Amino acid sequence: MVCPVLRTQLQSSIIGLARMDRQIEPEWLDELPADDSRAIRSRRDLRRVNALMGNARVIAAASREAFRDGPPKQIVDLGAGDGTLMLRVARRLFPRWRNVEVALVDQHAIVSAETCRQFETLSWRVKAIEANVLDWLARLSISQVDLIAANLFLHHFPESSLARLMQLAAEWTNCFIACEPRRCTAAQRASRWLWLIGCNQVTCHDAVASVRAGFNGKELSALWPRNGAWQLQEKAAGWFSHCFIAQRLRGRRTSDV
Ligand SMILES: C[S@@+](CC[C@H](N)C(=O)[O-])C[C@H]1O[C@@H](n2cnc3c(N)ncnc32)[C@H](O)[C@@H]1O
Repeated sequence: MVCPVLRTQLQSSIIGLARMDRQIEPEWLDELPADDSRAIRSRRDLRRVNALMGNARVIAAASREAFRDGPPKQIVDLGAGDGTLMLRVARRLFPRWRNVEVALVDQHAIVSAETCRQFETLSWRVKAIEANVLDWLARLSISQVDLIAANLFLHHFPESSLARLMQLAAEWTNCFIACEPRRCTAAQRASRWLWLIGCNQVTCHDAVASVRAGFNGKELSALWPRNGAWQLQEKAAGWFSHCFIAQRLRGRRTSDV
């Protein structure tokens, strides 16, 4: 006799293995009010999920590699959530990276004063911006930023919006780094068992949905705009993550095309 919970988990794992096309569905965390207790708990879970996936390490390593010649001055984190993932990245890059200005853009205003203070102890100046990322990128009127980063964010979008987001990002930066769920069997399986480490219903739902909407192969490279000379890298990172890096080749801008 197999217990019903186990049976459901096994069935959905088998069905999941058979269906590997990208599927996008609403994530509960995006829809809950920021101060809902389930959302607060899920954001705490997300920190553990990020740690399990090794995403701060992946983004820090890609950033270090992309800025071998010297640290960037401005970074934008798209869909930054509570900012703690970028804080972990900052801790990994400090002390070599100092006096960095980081803009944390999210539709919810959830960056705490404590998180801002932690950035300041690393000599990073932080600005939390409450906005829809697509709208914000479209009306961005500041000068170029050195690096645009995104963690567990791009998978929220269908291809048409993603292409638009990437086109806008490519106008504002010379380097774009994203770490996303990898749409693969290992991630699919792991996402179904997060309840075992105490994640709540919101996190368990969103984790499965995120993997279905995640990426593999060269799916993100295919959407990156062909304006200018870019070096693109897209690869598996760890067991569950998918890393995309777009770097403009030196001295080449859109106007050079
Ligand atoms: C899975 S969370 C990841 C948060 C953070 N990057 C991290 O790794 O902890 C996705 C975040 O994207 C934000 N988000 C989703 N769609 C958005 C949009 N169109 N504009 C701005 N933020 C958005 C949500 O509010 C949420 O904080």
